[in-house]
Amino acid sequence: QSIKFYDFKVQTKRVTKLCNSKDIVTINGMFPGPIINAQEDDRIIVKVTNMTPFNVTIHWHGIRQMLSCWYDGPSLITQCPIQSGQSFTYNFSVAQQRGTFFWHAHVAWLRGTVYGAMIVYPKTGVPYPFKFPYQEHVIILGEYWLKDLQQVATAILASGGFPPIADAYTINGHPGPNYNCSTNDVHQIDVIPGKTYLLRLINAGLNTENFFAIANHKLTIVEADAEYTKPFTTDTVMIGPGQTLNVLVSTDQPVGKYSMAVEPYKSGRAVLYQNVSAIAYFNYIGTPHDSVSLPAKMPRLDDNLAVKTVMDGLKSLNQVNVFKEIDENLFITIGLNVQRCHSKTPKQNCQGTNHGVMAASMNNISFVDPNISILEAYYKKIKGSYTEDFPDNPPKFYDFVDGGPNNIPYDTQSLNGTRVKVLQYGSRVQVILQNTGIVNTENHPMHFHGHSFYVVGYGTGNYNALTAQFNLVDPPNMNTIGVPSGGWAAIRFVADNPGVWYMHCHIDIHKAWGLGMVFIVNNGKGKQASLPHPPPDLPQC
Ligand code: C2O
Repeated sequence: QSIKFYDFKVQTKRVTKLCNSKDIVTINGMFPGPIINAQEDDRIIVKVTNMTPFNVTIHWHGIRQMLSCWYDGPSLITQCPIQSGQSFTYNFSVAQQRGTFFWHAHVAWLRGTVYGAMIVYPKTGVPYPFKFPYQEHVIILGEYWLKDLQQVATAILASGGFPPIADAYTINGHPGPNYNCSTNDVHQIDVIPGKTYLLRLINAGLNTENFFAIANHKLTIVEADAEYTKPFTTDTVMIGPGQTLNVLVSTDQPVGKYSMAVEPYKSGRAVLYQNVSAIAYFNYIGTPHDSVSLPAKMPRLDDNLAVKTVMDGLKSLNQVNVFKEIDENLFITIGLNVQRCHSKTPKQNCQGTNHGVMAASMNNISFVDPNISILEAYYKKIKGSYTEDFPDNPPKFYDFVDGGPNNIPYDTQSLNGTRVKVLQYGSRVQVILQNTGIVNTENHPMHFHGHSFYVVGYGTGNYNALTAQFNLVDPPNMNTIGVPSGGWAAIRFVADNPGVWYMHCHIDIHKAWGLGMVFIVNNGKGKQASLPHPPPDLPQC
């Protein structure tokens, strides 16, 4: 058990990519940002100093923040942003956690360039539950935009329409040879034959779920979202924004240069994507420098089966025996919709489908950021920034019997609000997430802060309690689940961490449109738990 200190200076840096130069926001001038290395049970202390004109927060994605909710990071949920010239020191323990995590900015679209890996190794003397790899490598997927990200985000929201797409997908910040001016802007891993390599895959991208594959090599998944899984071997994996996967790769092929490829996955509709793959090289040492890499075979853009096959293969390494009795049972519809423009909506905002405004909602509530952080308002009992009436069920007008998940006439009326659901400390919670919406283009990778959850079931169509098949024996324990487009997923967790916890779609534009909600876990009856006090340097709004 030791303390790891990091100094994060948020600063802009000029980078040249895709034949263009621009200033991007970085940590310490690095893109991707620095890798945090720690060991299970360590304490991590990161002083974040904001040297840019923008508001910043950093979130430690997947870290449970047990009794340290003030350091979780989502802007206006657990803290006010760190303003220009100010600093805030995050201080948390990685107790009882190990695996691949990442950190990212959690305000506006800053996450597009402000992200990095976070590796927590097992305690000394505790081996991995799989063959010890010869080497480990981080593969962090991202998106690159030629335009200024904040401007892109503002323009999309103002237009009310669909977002443009990233100008490139990237692997460790590099787009690779398929893009303009990028022949040498490519990531490469040098390997030797006859070994096992551990790749720590992270999707830090803003808006795209991705397929990943290595030409002629199999991937054996051994960990998902920093929890060990039963080894599962596959040709490709799909990894959504906010997910991490550890895979083993055996270098059992002839010496050569193999492509590691990243392409988008769009389950519903084949629009709004880039048909160009990001490429990195998996290069056997001794391959002539100028040899062409062998292409990876990628699934179709909308290959739902490839995704389901891998999802079906994800099981907790050990038996977990999830609780059977449920204290709180929520049914939440999630999806995109088009809010009707009315006389008060500015005209220029009504360029979405049928001249409406693109929105997203959970149980018909489109989440609106409060003016001060919800955690601070809760702690100080300040009224007026949120209400405690997030509905346990969708409104009655969702007619699941014959309307199906795409209930067009009703889905255009989501309400704006900052509504939270209060959970008793210790309660056993089930949430059915029903991916419903008239704009049914893709999965929603739903991420939950402060907890991980068992994915006990999922399926296509509408959830039906009578026919749904649940796995309570060895379901995967995750923090982000891609809820299938036009389908559902059931998650279970124990609300064992007092605080304020965001649940949202990790596709940034969906979150910006309102696809999120907040749970408050209270101190329980008779104060079984106690909400920690705020740190002295907590940023003010
Ligand atoms: Cu990685 Cu709330 O996010």
